[in-house]
Amino acid sequence: MRSIKDIGRIDDIHKQRNFLQLEGTLGIGHTRWATHGGVTAKNAHPHTDCSMKIFVIHNGVIENFDSLKSELAKKGHKFTSETDTELVAHLIEEEWKAGKDFGKAFALAIGKLSGSWSLLAMAEGEKAIHLSRNGPPLVIGIGKGEMFCASDVPALLEYTKKAVYIEDGDRAELTRGGWKVFGKGGKNAKRKVHVITWSASMAEKDGYPHFMLKEIFESQTKIREALSADVKGAVSLLRGEKRATVIACGTSYYAGLVFKALLQGKLRMNCDVIYGSEFPYLRTGKERAVVAISQSGETADTLSAVRLAKKSGAKIVAITNAVGSSLYREADKKVIIGAGPEIAVVATKSYTCTLAVLAKIALLIAGEGKKMTELALLSDEIEKLLSRASEIEKIASELSKYRDFFFIGRSLSYPSALEGALKLKEITYLHAEAYPAGELKHGPLSLLEKGVAVISLAPSGETFAKTLSNMQECRARNATLVVLSDKEEAISKATYSFRMPKMDPLAIPILYAIPLQLLAYYMAVGMKKDPDKPRNLAKSVTVE
Ligand code: AGP
Repeated sequence: MRSIKDIGRIDDIHKQRNFLQLEGTLGIGHTRWATHGGVTAKNAHPHTDCSMKIFVIHNGVIENFDSLKSELAKKGHKFTSETDTELVAHLIEEEWKAGKDFGKAFALAIGKLSGSWSLLAMAEGEKAIHLSRNGPPLVIGIGKGEMFCASDVPALLEYTKKAVYIEDGDRAELTRGGWKVFGKGGKNAKRKVHVITWSASMAEKDGYPHFMLKEIFESQTKIREALSADVKGAVSLLRGEKRATVIACGTSYYAGLVFKALLQGKLRMNCDVIYGSEFPYLRTGKERAVVAISQSGETADTLSAVRLAKKSGAKIVAITNAVGSSLYREADKKVIIGAGPEIAVVATKSYTCTLAVLAKIALLIAGEGKKMTELALLSDEIEKLLSRASEIEKIASELSKYRDFFFIGRSLSYPSALEGALKLKEITYLHAEAYPAGELKHGPLSLLEKGVAVISLAPSGETFAKTLSNMQECRARNATLVVLSDKEEAISKATYSFRMPKMDPLAIPILYAIPLQLLAYYMAVGMKKDPDKPRNLAKSVTVE
């Protein structure tokens, strides 16, 4: 058996080491997101045992790593990495050399673990790849005379449309011609074969230089699918409730803040928005209607919060892009946002589509279905904004010398400011933070001076006049003011500006997302960063 592993981008490693020199019909590979041990070639996956006959890859965290490792070390096992993963290879080795067949040895080793994992193992002379899931996702792809396994569906699209989602607690075996799943207790388990509706071409760049740019442009068409999403179940579950609790992380959390502003502003319906990771400490245990937002449907923090809420009797509405994902399967009501595969690590079209779905739900709960006609205009308006992408590109190049960015907005534009700042920091690694425009004077104003850029979101409406005053405060401190607004009064105050269309407040967070995403994109490209693969980040965050 042979392995090639190193640090850096896969393409670069391939150029230097040529993965294709590996011959055979069975293989595993993994790009590591470091939890234990630094980013070194030794810590890269796969990991192997003392005999170098067993190889494993792993996503997750083995929590009883220290105690298991010292037990194995006492038995004479030699470790060559600092990872928690390596010990799994040694655990299997212990059982295998005691005479168990490889599948049994794998199962016994897994039985000793606590923590979270999706794990694959193979061994010299064995014809199967063995897998186990406890947390992070695993999907089997059924090909013709060949089988695949991945952590997410887009990886399979080039090879097959048939997918089997491995459930938590499952173990499985893949051979060239087939698959077997063993559920809890090791018994044969039936799992549904799903036919994926996404196509391989949907996961290609289509002539765009980056997936991120392609995906920003796709908002124009995908928003229509989002607006036609079936939200009946979600609306019936939420209607009549006095309070909703949103659970989400990152960009999905910001979409939750927009939902809160809509529910509380429109319906006077209480809505708490809680980060998945904070839910265990903030929950009351009385949550009845939970809206869990996750484009991947696999975010560990969101999932564990949802499970906690379910235990105390909450009903769950899932807003997700991933049919069949863990969140999808666990929810009582499901809404698919219809964004199609999103390959870039950062959320773009999945954010706008989520916002569209949430706006639709809020309108229908409020009994204002007629207002959907306003939202139907979104696709055309997005198209017009996209046709002016070069204006944003120009602003991005003007801003290239800046290192500190503040994003400000009020009401529905505050989550947009948060999302604009997140997008910028994710892919440019520059310092960017967001505040409700009125909050600057309570502290952050002390940071404003020449050389700091303030991006102000100033749509017309009830927030306009006060946002305008906040912009003046920034100018008075010599900050560079970048304004997104439909009002001349605001545009005329700006150092750089981008004119927005005037639309119903419901549409504003969706529309303003487009120039903010483009700004982050062009800044990253200008700085020669890869916007599709930001450092240290993963598309599905499957560890807590
Ligand atoms: C968005 O650009 C980020 N990559 C990240 O904040 C993301 O939104 C977050 O991890 C939640 O992901 P989810 O929607 O798949 O749950």
